[in-house]
Amino acid sequence: MEFIITDTYEDMSRVAADVIAEQITTKPASVLGLATGSTPEGLYAQLVADHKAGRLDFSQVISYNLDEYRGLSHDDVQSYHYFMNKHLFSGVNIDIQNTHVPDGSNPDSEDACNQYEQMIAQAGGIDLQLLGLGHNGHIGFNEPADIFPKTTNCVALTQSTIEANSRLFDSIDDVPREAYTMGIGTIMAARKILVVANGQGKAEIVKRAFFGEVSPQVPASILQFHPNVVVVVDKQAASLCMA
Ligand code: GLP
Repeated sequence: MEFIITDTYEDMSRVAADVIAEQITTKPASVLGLATGSTPEGLYAQLVADHKAGRLDFSQVISYNLDEYRGLSHDDVQSYHYFMNKHLFSGVNIDIQNTHVPDGSNPDSEDACNQYEQMIAQAGGIDLQLLGLGHNGHIGFNEPADIFPKTTNCVALTQSTIEANSRLFDSIDDVPREAYTMGIGTIMAARKILVVANGQGKAEIVKRAFFGEVSPQVPASILQFHPNVVVVVDKQAASLCMA
């Protein structure tokens, strides 16, 4: 595991964007696994700036997002589909047909999850998977559990995740209670993984995930077993790892 500590959020975003840019430059038809949340917003802005400056071509890139709220349609402003269009897809020359987000509008969870898993397999798997970290160690929406879920699955969100994500909704009652997410097996099958985290609020979970015991109670801890992981965190998020 490569563990990079940066001074600021902007530096974290630049370093992480460079890892993605290098992937796309080396393999223009890369399959990227993408993430939502506040953490990657800065790196997406960097990628858009790189594209607009003529340094980065997304024309052959294929993308699969980690997760989506169950029950939200693609054009719902709270959907992760909408988030991706706003923060990345609309700012670069990616072919929108090559972008994929689990279908939150499909009420048949088994069908939605199986289809998504099959699509990723048909694309040849993920070259580079970007991940943020939930405060409880969730990756995608794989919440702390007794086992590591293998494939794309439907999860009931924990109360702490509902509360954390309610900041983006008008009211906590509007936060969907379920989501479709790539499984831990889906994520671990990616050939390379890039994790980003920033701020003091993530310090405890960064320490537990990358320097603690590997356990499905801290889903991100499994990444310690992946052979090709780059973790980029700002110094606040790394503050408990430096003792
Ligand atoms: C959400 C997403 C995760 C994300 C996490 C952290 O629940 N499903 O993929 O990593 O929140 O979000 P943030 O970056 O806003 O802290």
